[in-house]
Amino acid sequence: MTTVNQPPRIAVTGSAGNIGYALIFRIASGQMTGGRPVILHLLEIEPMRKVLDAVAMELEDCAFPTLADCVLATDPKPGFRDIDIALLVGSKPRGKGMERKDLLQSNGEIFRTQGRALNENASRDVKVLVVGNPANTNALIASANAPDLDARQFTCMTRLDHNRGVAMLAQRLGCAPADIRKMIIWGNHSSTQFPDPLHCEAGGRPVKADMEWIKETFVPSVQQRGARIIEARGASSAASAASAVIDHIRSWMDGTPPGDWTSAGVAADGSYGVKPGVMFSYPATAANGDWRIVQDLELNDFERSMIAATDKELREERAAIENLLP
Ligand code: NAD
Ligand code: LMR
Repeated sequence: MTTVNQPPRIAVTGSAGNIGYALIFRIASGQMTGGRPVILHLLEIEPMRKVLDAVAMELEDCAFPTLADCVLATDPKPGFRDIDIALLVGSKPRGKGMERKDLLQSNGEIFRTQGRALNENASRDVKVLVVGNPANTNALIASANAPDLDARQFTCMTRLDHNRGVAMLAQRLGCAPADIRKMIIWGNHSSTQFPDPLHCEAGGRPVKADMEWIKETFVPSVQQRGARIIEARGASSAASAASAVIDHIRSWMDGTPPGDWTSAGVAADGSYGVKPGVMFSYPATAANGDWRIVQDLELNDFERSMIAATDKELREERAAIENLLP
């Protein structure tokens, strides 16, 4: 395990991919650690070794004062040795016309292998963020295959959806994204996710609910934003995803600000009627390196039915990958 005086070891799988390329330079420059030095562990598959070497050369050429060391690996066992943070990005992205869950079979196996490798090699306090799609169910697979690590150490990323929701609401209200608080993404990082602005505040005041706009425009726009980017770009979001990775880890390590929360995919614990057994995105605060699901929000029938629909999809995804759970 990394000792108090050593820089944290941060692993990024899929380092030579689209998100990897947008992410690792930001981490190396200290943006994830508030300017403190880091040791990067860059993981790829063997056929991408040459590209990974090139990425490492570019990192060297940046001469970042915050990059203390860089470890390259194509085997997760040495690659995950003593790591403090695991960013599990490496996996196939969806193409046009696909749903993220269409990737379950091709990507699920990756997360079984990596869960086992984390269990055996990572720091006992490792914090894991799964980005590779379908992110919730891949995080479930990784966590289930790491029995010696606490399920609370595993999360999946819905921060990009959260940020999208914040940006869209700010645009609608004519304010800055920084003025918006208490956005929520409930459930699956998929087209059944429920982006919920009904608890939001703008400039410290509750936002008046325009239910027609929320149902007809806001919810589908956030749900379909990833697909729109794939349609327009011919590849899935990368820079915004990398930015959301930084945001998620900074919230986890540094805590969420007073009077606000964020959205994170964590192990369901029965809160809001979602039974354990899936990774579910909730409104969550972080303090002392631990997530807490925000409790006791009053939900209306619309919210409850949207939460039930995304929960149902997550149970179906789980049923499709039972073979990858120990
Ligand atoms: P990409 O194809 O550009 O890069 C993926 C990289 O992962 C490739 O370089 C590949 O060689 C590598 N890889 C594959 N298997 C690996 C393994 N077992 N170990 C290490 N590396 C491995 O894809 P991308 O655009 O970077 O997207 C990566 C994943 O992130 C996709 O599944 C995508 O759908 C997902 N994604 C999630 C979110 C989110 O909000 N949760 C946002 C954007 C993208
Ligand atoms: C996104 O939300 O942009 C990513 O999950 C990529 C995708 O498949 O939509």
